[in-house]
Amino acid sequence: SDLDALIDALPKAELHLHLEGSLEPEQLLEFAARNKVDIPFKTLEEVRAAYEFSNLQDFLDIYYQGMSVLQTEADFHDLTDAYLQRVAADNVRHVEVFFDPQGHTERGVPFDVPISGILKALDAAKAKYGITYRLIMCFLRHLSEEEAFKTWDQAKPWLSRIHGIGLDSSENGHPPSKFARIYEEARKEGLKLVAHAGEEGPPAYVYEALDELKVDRIDHGNRSLEDEKLVARLAESGMTLTVCPLSNLSLCVVDDLTQHPMKKMLELGLRATVNSDDPAYFGGYVSQNFRETAKAVGLTRDDIITLAKNSFTGSFLSADEQAPHL
Ligand code: HPA
Ligand code: ZN
Repeated sequence: SDLDALIDALPKAELHLHLEGSLEPEQLLEFAARNKVDIPFKTLEEVRAAYEFSNLQDFLDIYYQGMSVLQTEADFHDLTDAYLQRVAADNVRHVEVFFDPQGHTERGVPFDVPISGILKALDAAKAKYGITYRLIMCFLRHLSEEEAFKTWDQAKPWLSRIHGIGLDSSENGHPPSKFARIYEEARKEGLKLVAHAGEEGPPAYVYEALDELKVDRIDHGNRSLEDEKLVARLAESGMTLTVCPLSNLSLCVVDDLTQHPMKKMLELGLRATVNSDDPAYFGGYVSQNFRETAKAVGLTRDDIITLAKNSFTGSFLSADEQAPHL
């Protein structure tokens, strides 16, 4: 359709993407074979059948299991490069990507391995694909504050290469306030701050992310819509929400894509963006998220243009760097 052509043609940024969530079933089998890692799947069909979830925890269990095939710097490089190649074809011009160092250090892969491989691919992206980047290190919120500080110490030599920190994994029971001291340290180092909040967790967690973590962006934020005062605050402050429609559908944050709040978010004046979260697991990269959401909730041409613009104005690029894309 005309809208699909517009979606393809518009320059876009992706602001909510877990690199480990871009591990396609084919790659999972390939990396398992080359690293001789035992996984409970033999065929693509078996992997695909396992990529079925009814909530966040269901997904996370498979996501951490999938990570076990990532062992070497080359694996992380190839994973990142494949993602970049994939989104370059969708006219994505800038990416702000997450990685989960604790998902790797916990199973004996040293901190330096994932970040070295990821940065090698990201540093080549401008010349190879015309894509600029920021790298965001996430803490797993189901682990302790002490574990987060251990990871922070391992990250110290890399801080000039890490643009921001984030918070992901199991949300309920692990409120943002648990990590207030880590965020304080990162803020002192001049890093950007983001956190997943209001995906499954209540509006109170979004308030905590704003007030206690002092985040620059909210990842997901869907449940903010349950609180009128919060919506007004987010809209007035121009806070960016990195919304992930196909993720929301896969993890049953919404029952059906026609029920997705994207249109409503725009009507409420929220600075929403469209992102893929974990595209290998949730059935689509950023353009597919745009296409399916546009169809399901009736986005107009203007809505789509606004969403593409929001992806740059909500990014950590400077105004000068954003300008050519707007
Ligand atoms: N939510 C929380 N943790 C995650 C996600 C998510 O959507 N994706 C990868 N880790
Ligand atoms: Zn996410």
